[in-house]
Amino acid sequence: MKNILTAPFIKEMCDAAANMYRLGWDERNGGNISVMLDEAQAGEYLDLGSVLRTIPTGFGAKPLAGKLFLVTGTGKYFKNVKGDPENNLGIIRIGRDGKTAELLWGYKDGGRFTSELPAHLMSHMSRLSVDPENRIIMHSHPTYTLAMNYVHELDEKKLTHTLWEMCTECIVVFPDGIGVLPWMPCGTNEIGIATAEKMKEYRLVVWGMHGIYGAGKTMDEAFGLIETVEKAAQIYMLTAHLPRVNTIKDNELQALAELFGVEYRKDFLNL
Ligand code: 13P
Ligand code: ZN
Repeated sequence: MKNILTAPFIKEMCDAAANMYRLGWDERNGGNISVMLDEAQAGEYLDLGSVLRTIPTGFGAKPLAGKLFLVTGTGKYFKNVKGDPENNLGIIRIGRDGKTAELLWGYKDGGRFTSELPAHLMSHMSRLSVDPENRIIMHSHPTYTLAMNYVHELDEKKLTHTLWEMCTECIVVFPDGIGVLPWMPCGTNEIGIATAEKMKEYRLVVWGMHGIYGAGKTMDEAFGLIETVEKAAQIYMLTAHLPRVNTIKDNELQALAELFGVEYRKDFLNL
């Protein structure tokens, strides 16, 4: 058995958490990440027959029964993940009934998975239904995205459109746009269901006045989506109070999307 601390999936998670902390997206325990693991790869580092604890999830995730996830722990600080993965992360397998999680590694101090597990697992189910290669769900509290939530309408078309205008690359990076939920209590099955519904259509979902979710086949894809939204939101917040002299026009956004051959939300442009 290889040393799990050398596993590429642990390193990738540690690096992502460290970057997110460094960028100011994840203060204290803010944010959470889940990664669906390949069973054969995980089996090189873990005895898959040895269950440390069984933890109820509080909701049903039967389509994910038997699947393995590496998940950040609830209340754990992102800044600490890299230095102490075994306390701050855990690897769970969804039980046969879909309602329990079998802990295979981690949460060493008796901890448990993120309080946002409903939103994560339900979003995995949604994304897998439209993209069988999806592996990552990422949640964070990026500063400018959050700031923008207080001064911009929380409307999917309007928010996406404003962000597309802020950086040339935006419509190419997230041509599918951004789903938006109103403010809701977090850590509940209800916000999980609402997020997962949006995830059937979008890889990005803003939680009004809370943060953002990103999904992807790879950590880079999920991270890059949030990073691009955050950059655009930063430009918006740096300019929103100033007279707008120039802008990228809708026919230019359309030309760009067509040049790059991306499937974009035509109904989010005003042509
Ligand atoms: P956890 O510490 O339970 O992951 O919660 C952090 C968070 O961002 C809640 O939305
Ligand atoms: Zn949060």
